[in-house]
Amino acid sequence: MMNQSTPIMRLAFLLLLLVYSTDGKMDIVMKSPDVQVGAELLLLCKAGGEGDITWQKDGEEIDDEDIVVKVDESTSKISKKATIQDAGRYSCHCDFDSGHQDSISKKVYVYDGPSFGSTKVHHEFLEGTDVKVPCLVTGQPEVDVYWLRNEQPISSNDGRRVRKMSDNTLFIGKVERGDAGTYMCQAQIRGRPINKELPVSVMVNAPPTVHLKEEEKKVIAGPETNVSLYCLADGLPKPYINWTLPVAFDPSHHHFNSDRSQLTIQSVVRADYGEYVCTATNKISENSATIMLHVFEAPGVFVSVDKVNVSGGEGVSVSCNVSGHPQPELHWLNKQNGQTLDATSGRVRVIDGVLAIDEVVPSDGGLYSCVAVSPSGNASRDSAIYTVPGPPHYLSASPGPASVFFSLKTLPISGGTPITSFVLQWKQDTAEQWEHVIIPLSGALAVTKLKPYTLYQVRLAAMNMVGQGHFSVTESVRTNGIREPDSPVVSTDEMKIEGNSFSVPLKQKDEGGSPLQHFSVRYRQDKEGSEWTEMQLQSDADSITLQDLTFGSGYELEITAVNTNGSSVPATFNFTIAEKPVSGTSMTKGSVVGIVMLIFLVIFLVVDATCCYRNRCGLLNAIAVKVFGKNVPGLKMVEDGEGTTKGEVKLKGIATPRGSIQQAQTLSKEGQLTEVTCDKAPLTKHEKTHIPTHDA
Ligand SMILES: *[C@@H]1O[C@H](CO)[C@@H](O)[C@H](O)[C@H]1NC(C)=O
Ligand SMILES: *[C@@H]1O[C@H](CO)[C@@H](O)[C@H](O)[C@H]1NC(C)=O
Ligand SMILES: *[C@@H]1O[C@H](CO)[C@@H](O)[C@H](O)[C@H]1NC(C)=O
Ligand SMILES: *[C@@H]1O[C@H](CO)[C@@H](O)[C@H](O)[C@H]1NC(C)=O
Ligand SMILES: *[C@@H]1O[C@H](CO)[C@@H](O)[C@H](O)[C@H]1NC(C)=O
Ligand SMILES: *[C@@H]1O[C@H](CO)[C@@H](O)[C@H](O)[C@H]1NC(C)=O
Ligand SMILES: *[C@@H]1O[C@H](CO)[C@@H](O)[C@H](O)[C@H]1NC(C)=O
Repeated sequence: MMNQSTPIMRLAFLLLLLVYSTDGKMDIVMKSPDVQVGAELLLLCKAGGEGDITWQKDGEEIDDEDIVVKVDESTSKISKKATIQDAGRYSCHCDFDSGHQDSISKKVYVYDGPSFGSTKVHHEFLEGTDVKVPCLVTGQPEVDVYWLRNEQPISSNDGRRVRKMSDNTLFIGKVERGDAGTYMCQAQIRGRPINKELPVSVMVNAPPTVHLKEEEKKVIAGPETNVSLYCLADGLPKPYINWTLPVAFDPSHHHFNSDRSQLTIQSVVRADYGEYVCTATNKISENSATIMLHVFEAPGVFVSVDKVNVSGGEGVSVSCNVSGHPQPELHWLNKQNGQTLDATSGRVRVIDGVLAIDEVVPSDGGLYSCVAVSPSGNASRDSAIYTVPGPPHYLSASPGPASVFFSLKTLPISGGTPITSFVLQWKQDTAEQWEHVIIPLSGALAVTKLKPYTLYQVRLAAMNMVGQGHFSVTESVRTNGIREPDSPVVSTDEMKIEGNSFSVPLKQKDEGGSPLQHFSVRYRQDKEGSEWTEMQLQSDADSITLQDLTFGSGYELEITAVNTNGSSVPATFNFTIAEKPVSGTSMTKGSVVGIVMLIFLVIFLVVDATCCYRNRCGLLNAIAVKVFGKNVPGLKMVEDGEGTTKGEVKLKGIATPRGSIQQAQTLSKEGQLTEVTCDKAPLTKHEKTHIPTHDA
């Protein structure tokens, strides 16, 4: 700013400095001891008193009036355009008017520069090379050069990889990426605080290099298979990555990430296999690498028929083709016996993937498996060949009552699908037609309702879903007769009576050759005139139960087994239902009244009988008189001859029935009331009278 100011202002500035240097001492005032070439060299000498002022430079008088100007009586100045030669010691000498002398001197430095001229400020180097960064500096009188990075001076020590050379260039040995950045070249006028800095940028470049995670990738094709290929590229500047695919790029199928270093293939298909070339390019060069993508396909198996029905003796063929990568091997297996089939395996063989059976036999029936074997896995499909069952072997036919029973030790060969039923055939005469019945697998193998004691020819064949197999050999069997079943076995030891219920186990030993149809059961109370109660039990009944029987009664029971021929001899036995148990507390009002009445009746009868016997009085006497007339025989005539009766009177019905209650029984023991007569006379006596008497 000062440089651009007018000379007047500069003078004013120096004068101002003078005003402040108050004392009478001499002084040389200047803006700076360093003056650039071409700038104004301005020195002001203030003497501090009036006098004659002269200037010297390095001891030599300066008398050029263009340069030295007297400002006033005590001040002089030097003013000129500075050149290098102007540098030196300037002295100001004053002969004061007062007579004494004084002088002062100051050094003035003149410099030029420093200047960086055509120094290059941008450098690019290849990584790993030894490089030099020059700093071309000019200036006078002498210039010192320094290199700085991050404000730290770079040493010029020879041992350093990065150092300042004696020719002021910056040396970087085997340049690294970290060496990139801004370096400062600093130039200083030697010994003076005059310097300049020039920023120099250094860039490090590296050619692209490609690193692969894997050079080979193996995947199995499928809608669920996604595969990513990685191409990690290095280089400075950062390289651009491009891919060359073995197939046309399909954006629905292939994706790149933002820097294209990752290629993702979704739902890999076999066609995606091949070489994927990844190329990394920057301004230095390009570099590429190849990834081999192997795409395998899981094996697939296809059989021409899943299931087939084949009649016995017919031929059948099933073809199979397999797919996959690598191409799988094809095998046919007989799953029944685990045998692998090939062209040499006989009647059941495989030629060019086709399973062929010439004349199917029952044992050919079953599952066959076409298997694809490949390193990427195995797969198989089954083909079921169904044929009719084989003939029954190990058959025995035995006679039954008007029937024939078959028994099989083992089931015949099924023909690949389960046996569902059997056909049983029979005929009496070789000339006759066979008659038949179809029995399900779970049923009893029997022909029934044949004639008894008759010779039959019988045979048997198995059936499955496909049809009927061959018949067994024909057997001859003579049927047995049928008779009535044996009597049922009733174990009376095990009979149970609970209250008025009765039950007893029941068994049937021999059904008489024909299944039982039912049991007939009948029972009645064992007293005169009681009716049979009849019922039927199912043939599989194992016990008889009777309920709601009468307490205190004996019963008769008959059981008969019945089959188609007839009825067995009945099994019979008797049992008794006990009196109904009654406890005192549970006695009803009615029974109490009944008992009391009974007691009264008994007492009455005893009294009456005594009266009748001794005194011919009382009710009995009255009855006897009515029956026999006045002279009842054997009775003492107590008062008069009338009222004598003959014969005896028996009272029936007063006898205690078996069903009456305990108290009554006790009573009957004392009273012996089963029969009460008025007369102790022998019966014969009355028989003479031929008067009918009551039955005893
Ligand atoms: C494959 O990629 C698709 C789309 O990104 C995604 O939906 C699917 O889940 C991926 N499958 C597997 C097995 O990762
Ligand atoms: C990437 O490669 C493909 C095929 O090689 C080429 O067509 C395409 O121009 C390349 N892209 C760039 C940016 O180099
Ligand atoms: C085999 O025969 C059965 C009975 O006729 C039939 O139900 C079945 O569908 C047949 N199976 C094939 C594969 O033809
Ligand atoms: C088998 O062959 C048939 C027709 O020849 C074809 O349609 C099918 O896709 C093939 N299957 C396999 C698993 O190769
Ligand atoms: C495929 O089958 C072959 C021979 O049949 C066997 O050796 C192999 O272990 C099987 N591979 C798989 C994955 O089951
Ligand atoms: C019932 O069996 C007897 C032999 O106990 C026999 O004499 C009679 O003929 C058979 N009746 C019938 C219908 O089979
Ligand atoms: C069962 O009682 C009746 C009549 O009381 C008699 O005839 C029969 O013999 C008795 N039966 C048995 C098996 O005791």
